[in-house]
Amino acid sequence: MQTNSWVPFFPEQASTFAWQVDLLYFYLIAISVAFSIPIVLAIFYFALKYREKEKFATPDEIHGSIMLETVWSIIPFVISMTIFLGGAIVYFSQYRIPDDGMNVYVVGKQWMWKIQHETGHSEINELHVPVNRKIKLTMTTEDVLHDFSIPAFRTKTDVVPGRYTYLWFEATKPGRYQLFCAEYCGLNHSGMIGWVYVMEQRDFDAWLEGSVAGETPVEQGRDLFENKLGCASCHAGGPQQRGAPLEGLFGREVRLVGGQTVIADEEYIRNSILNPSSQIVEGYQPIMPTFKGQVTEEQLVALVAYVKSLSGADTSTQPTRAPAAQPAGGTGTQPAGTGPTTGAANR
Ligand code: CUA
Repeated sequence: MQTNSWVPFFPEQASTFAWQVDLLYFYLIAISVAFSIPIVLAIFYFALKYREKEKFATPDEIHGSIMLETVWSIIPFVISMTIFLGGAIVYFSQYRIPDDGMNVYVVGKQWMWKIQHETGHSEINELHVPVNRKIKLTMTTEDVLHDFSIPAFRTKTDVVPGRYTYLWFEATKPGRYQLFCAEYCGLNHSGMIGWVYVMEQRDFDAWLEGSVAGETPVEQGRDLFENKLGCASCHAGGPQQRGAPLEGLFGREVRLVGGQTVIADEEYIRNSILNPSSQIVEGYQPIMPTFKGQVTEEQLVALVAYVKSLSGADTSTQPTRAPAAQPAGGTGTQPAGTGPTTGAANR
């Protein structure tokens, strides 16, 4: 944490990829300086050397130089390729989301961040995480575009209406780090800020125990599925079953009417609940009603967590209750077929 009173030139480096981002940045600055200074010096030098000494003088003709042209093509090529490679390495390390991260759900809303842990703990504008552990955020928004940004971790990702985006990090130092919304989202955009608390594992465990946990997302999702929304009436097994089974669905490839296939990821499950007729599973009728307008993004997150739990996916911090034969999810549009593969795939 920054303890001095003046504004730090750079935010602290507090994640595993912070140094990579800074290194790339300094490399770009170094290259810019290395070109700018000689160019400015050359401008002055040539202005003096070739200033007009006699009126209407004609310059000597210059013929090409293969050598010179080759050199000034190859050097910039090599430099731009190093920038590209450095950028690609940093990009992949940040935007390839690891499978073994601890899951946290984030829902943005004008003008606050709602955080939901898999343990059932929820927070507003605060995110508590253990140090040295991969954290995976699954994010969406109730209203407009926001952007989840933690400068000390050198990472940020847009939070987009109508879909899920992901961000991951592994914090390297316990401390308190500022969290910002980095996308103008209306009147109180500048107030949409918070703190990320990075704690030693034992402190984090103590924090979990010391604060009140509500229902876990999986429990909330099960309640919606079985009771409030009645999804189970079509998706549960037995003679009533008209919707596709959902056990083992998550992460699998699903065949749709028309022969297309899709991977059953978070986005697919969300879409199947809101726009059931857009992706009909092969072998099923388009009879599922839409739940658009009836479920909030937070409830959708819970439903998605529940459907994931039916595949044994997810739940890094708490064992899910055995889901037995309860199907999940929306209805008419889910994938048929099924060998329960386990889902950890595809996040
Ligand atoms: Cu949310 Cu700016």
